[in-house]
Amino acid sequence: MKRSVTIVLAAVFAAISGWSIAQQMAGVQTLRGADTAAADQAPEQKMYVGKKPGLQQPIARTFKEQPPLVPHAVDNFDEITVTDNQCMECHSPEKYREKKAPKLGDSHLAFSSDGTKKTLTMDRYQCNTCHVPQVDAKPLVEQNFVGNIPPKQ
Ligand code: HEC
Ligand code: HEC
Repeated sequence: MKRSVTIVLAAVFAAISGWSIAQQMAGVQTLRGADTAAADQAPEQKMYVGKKPGLQQPIARTFKEQPPLVPHAVDNFDEITVTDNQCMECHSPEKYREKKAPKLGDSHLAFSSDGTKKTLTMDRYQCNTCHVPQVDAKPLVEQNFVGNIPPKQ
């Protein structure tokens, strides 16, 4: 029994390696650009563009409904947790004037349960699911996206 399993496995292995040699001879290119057995090559790590908040211009939006891109550095900020959200220290309706930061979108606010005050809705709490910083990198794939906001003259 054991022996026949070994023979079957050997046959399967031979078939697979024969197939892969045939593929190579036929000039088939792998999509990942490396042999399957080779370790994955990590892409080059790029730094986010943007310095301390307050030093840059907003990045032009390309479509009307777009969450604006984050123009400043975010690397030094703490992770957003249940109790802490550093983004709110500058972008909240209470703080934005003092911090000279754009106020978060009105769509992000809803009346608190006692109906007295507008506060951040929890579905907008994790800012970086929608607002992302940028790196200076060429697109991974060719694309021909055209936005719906005409560039400013
Ligand atoms: C220390 C204050 C500060 C903190 C903290 C901060 N920001 Fe900002 N943010 C600013 C300022 C000021 C600007 C205006 C552009 C600039 O000067 O960089 C800005 C711009 C932005 C914009 C662009 C808005 C637009 O209309 O184009 C987005 C989006 C944004 N920040 C998201 C975030 C997110 C998400 C976080 C948390 C990870 C965060 N910010 C933390 C001060 C801050
Ligand atoms: C579910 C996606 C989403 C999340 C989460 C989110 N935003 Fe936004 N944000 C948007 C969109 C879309 C816009 C543009 C339209 C609007 O105002 O709703 C926007 C607009 C903004 C603007 C520009 C407002 C203006 O009037 O031009 C700021 C600043 C901002 N968001 C900050 C934040 C911060 C800070 C957080 C986290 C506390 C956050 N956002 C969470 C989607 C999101």
